[in-house]
Amino acid sequence: MPRTAILGTGYHVPDRVVTNDDLTGFMETSDEWIRERTGIEERRWVKEGDTGAAMALAASRMALEEAGIEAGEVDAIVLATLSPDHFFPGTGVFLQRELGVGTIPALDIRAQCSGFVYGLSVADAWIRVGQYRTILLVGVEIQSTGLNLTTEGRDMAVLFGDGAGAAVLQATEDEGRGVLSTHIYSEGEHAEILWGDAPASWRHPRISPEDFEELRIYPSMTGREVFKHAVTRMPQAVQAALEANDLTAEEIDLLIPHQANLRISQMVQKRLRLRDDQVFNNIQRYGNTTAATIPIALAEAVREGRVERGDLLCFTAFGSGFTWGSALVRW
Ligand code: COA
Repeated sequence: MPRTAILGTGYHVPDRVVTNDDLTGFMETSDEWIRERTGIEERRWVKEGDTGAAMALAASRMALEEAGIEAGEVDAIVLATLSPDHFFPGTGVFLQRELGVGTIPALDIRAQCSGFVYGLSVADAWIRVGQYRTILLVGVEIQSTGLNLTTEGRDMAVLFGDGAGAAVLQATEDEGRGVLSTHIYSEGEHAEILWGDAPASWRHPRISPEDFEELRIYPSMTGREVFKHAVTRMPQAVQAALEANDLTAEEIDLLIPHQANLRISQMVQKRLRLRDDQVFNNIQRYGNTTAATIPIALAEAVREGRVERGDLLCFTAFGSGFTWGSALVRW
């Protein structure tokens, strides 16, 4: 059975930088509060007219170039997002169109902050069974247009940013590299702890003036509950991955945790007893870009020389659903 190698990575973030101080123009908050609780210093927001598909395209082109692969060689697109450009169809088909490739499948994944790890799990299975040889895996998010930018929404609004990350995956016969395992989970009993209530297809109509008045159009969460579950589930998922591969945390060269909150990542690091040099964080500059955090961080880690052939990489994510998971990759 072939393995799945990551041959190229890429990312794109909007030019518009929004600092914590900029947010004080919209709501009662402070740079100090945001830094202390989340580690975030600034994030990127799209400008009017920017689309998720365009960001996905820019990230994908970078990843394809690094991989030395033409878009026409891609056999399938797997695209993770909780903020598709339209209710339907998914953003994957717009990326397929923009890439100008043939009638390859484009699968959107709805697993929120765990979308990249879920997508990697699906793509890895397709590659291992021989269904597809080259897969473009993308995480893209536009969060800024859906946030409540008033004091009432500040707990969520300060956390999120926009961006896209991509990875080109290809079958390899080289046993010394590739995805070693993926572990993915969900626990729907917590769905409403972190969610976007409206629009809702079961309501008539799907979106109403009451949804605006009662603020159901904005995402909401119980932050402390999310925090508590995140710092438990991510280390558990990493331990499951390590045990399945007969490896130890000490052997991880680089952990790329989903960038939800720097304090969450630090707690995950502590629970796994990892050194600072074993963990990559960039939330300071981008905030939480949901399905895009891991591929953006991976692309940056590669460009900063933090990843070398033979390194053991670990991804772990946690998000709305709840969904969570991990992946181990020999680079
Ligand atoms: N600026 C200033 N004050 C804020 C604020 C902001 N942006 N957001 C909330 N506050 C206030 C609250 O209103 C509250 O005030 P009160 O005590 O007068 O009621 C106070 O700060 C403490 O709020 P609390 O929610 O208890 O803070 P916290 O210590 O739990 O930190 C989070 C809040 C959101 C930073 C934290 O819970 C968190 O990071 N949770 C995980 C969220 C996450 O990662 N979600 C995505 C997962 S994929």
